[in-house]
Amino acid sequence: MAHSDRFLLAGVMGWPVMHSRSPMMHNYWFKKHGLAGTYVPLAIRPENLTAALRGLHPLGFAGVNVTIPHKQEAMKIVDDVDALARSIGAISCVVVRPDGSLAGTNNDCYGFIHAVKQEQPGWRADAGPIVVIGAGGGSRAVCYGLAREGAREIRLVNRTLDRAKEIEREFGAPIKALRWEDRHETLEGAAMVVNTTSQGMVGNSALEIRLDKLSKSALAADIVYIPLETPFLAAARARGNRTINGLGMLLNQGRPAWKAWFGIEPEVTAELRAMVEKTIS
Ligand SMILES: NC(=O)c1ccc[n+]([C@@H]2O[C@H](COP(=O)([O-])OP(=O)(O)OC[C@H]3O[C@@H](n4cnc5c(N)ncnc54)[C@H](OP(=O)(O)O)[C@@H]3O)[C@@H](O)[C@H]2O)c1
Repeated sequence: MAHSDRFLLAGVMGWPVMHSRSPMMHNYWFKKHGLAGTYVPLAIRPENLTAALRGLHPLGFAGVNVTIPHKQEAMKIVDDVDALARSIGAISCVVVRPDGSLAGTNNDCYGFIHAVKQEQPGWRADAGPIVVIGAGGGSRAVCYGLAREGAREIRLVNRTLDRAKEIEREFGAPIKALRWEDRHETLEGAAMVVNTTSQGMVGNSALEIRLDKLSKSALAADIVYIPLETPFLAAARARGNRTINGLGMLLNQGRPAWKAWFGIEPEVTAELRAMVEKTIS
């Protein structure tokens, strides 16, 4: 049900938000599909989140993405949260229903898994142990996705052990929460390692991890996408590991959002990726 009779509106709520590459991506899709519409960055202070979300319906928005720091708070504000987002513990996308009520879902998990499959055809979650570094909102989506894809062992290391233990308690097997000090050793025998911390992101220091125990055949992924190649990925690539940056996750999580807002599933094309990449590197 594409609403060709009206101007389509969507956006992203964050604080800060101007770094977001989502407007570029969604506006590319409006153009690609010949639709009249726009996707705007919405700088929303945490104390204004409720009012901003409730204002979406009268303003005519089809929905929004929510990003740092609103993913968990927004979940408490919306009227319905689907089972997937509830399991992950955060929402990344809000859909405004015709009656004005708000539905929350999480597309980060879809984004991560699809990016990995797109960039590493033949990848399997059950190929061997997977090390996930970090236990924040992004990690929850990644761990949930990996577990759902059939990962048999997810070694979860986080600076604050309790947060990793909480995920272990909530998700159960295959999550194993491990101490931050042991992160270098957890790489031994792993088929994949994923950084989900904000370390390595522009403005932050690099993730401190020794890769000497990591097999050269292991896949190294980062969900950070600014810069495209974090120091962690650069180190992995330099020793011969295959790498995946966080951009594919960002691009792919937009597809189900469009499906929910506009009834269209847009493509993550090479042209779109190159266009966004050009603004980062
Ligand atoms: N590509 C995408 O589509 C996508 C999607 C979601 C997120 N991301 C990116 O992923 C990153 C994390 O986002 P998030 O939403 O998960 O954030 P978050 O919920 O705030 O979690 C931050 C994580 O980083 C860890 N951390 C922070 N500072 C650290 C330090 N100095 N040393 C070690 N660990 C540290 C935290 O550990 P503690 O628990 O100990 O604090 C926690 O595990 C951000 O850079 C974000 O932009 C990308």
